Amino acid sequence: MTEVVVVDSPDSASSLAAELILSKVRTKPALRLGVATGATPVSLYRRMAVLAKQFGIDLGELQAYALDEYVGLEPGSPQSFRHFLEEHFIEVLGLDSNCLVVPSGDVGTIATAGDHFEKAIRDTGGIDCQILGIGSNGHIGFNEPGSSLGSRTRVKTLTENTRRDNAAYFSQPEDVPVHCISQGIGTILEARALVMLAFGDKKAEAVASAVEGPISASCPASAIQLHPHATVILDEGAASRLEQLRYYKFVWENKPDWQSWRLS
Ligand code: F6R
Repeated sequence: MTEVVVVDSPDSASSLAAELILSKVRTKPALRLGVATGATPVSLYRRMAVLAKQFGIDLGELQAYALDEYVGLEPGSPQSFRHFLEEHFIEVLGLDSNCLVVPSGDVGTIATAGDHFEKAIRDTGGIDCQILGIGSNGHIGFNEPGSSLGSRTRVKTLTENTRRDNAAYFSQPEDVPVHCISQGIGTILEARALVMLAFGDKKAEAVASAVEGPISASCPASAIQLHPHATVILDEGAASRLEQLRYYKFVWENKPDWQSWRLS
């Protein structure tokens, strides 16, 4: 069963997710971490920095793999996901930028960029833990509705919905690229563990479809139900449409100590 954890605020959710990830770094300092961009994981990365310091967890061997990138932005563009991750992940956690691998959105090499990125993941032994957000249309990475559940890293065309959701990062909505390169759903499912975060009512419907709906390309995030180690950490707003909400809370309250990933 997908582990669903519902807490009172985005801050508590970020804290819990940070504990889950850092408990994995404790066991495996050279953890391969899949990192997401967007508003959702920003406080998670900040919380990881605070807790790593507090618990003396060394992040120096961490390797990071981005989920996706826009295609066709100028190199170094502040809207690129590489730039976002340099600012909100690498700098916040005091890491070396060489530890971060991002699929290339350079138009000149785009035909081979997906294979190249997949090889980089394979060559280091695969991603241990993949952080995910969820789009209001149910996308994970930039796997828009209709994406193949077995897909690998490749170029995708963004939906109008996603371009609108991401317009705030650009000076005008038309500047949001039409194309992106994204880890496929098949790629994401190969990570050894998945940690999905979602906050606010705006995500409630997508979350309910992902966790309780049928597994379907119409809601790409529903593919996480196929994963043996998927944890979904939500605030009350994002959890508000879940039918089994009371049960998930009961499971969490009665989680045995020996199954816990809390830091101490
Ligand atoms: C980010 C990504 C997307 C976002 C999703 C939610 O790398 O691939 O799937 O996780 O669009 O975005 P926010 O967090 O901005 O609501």
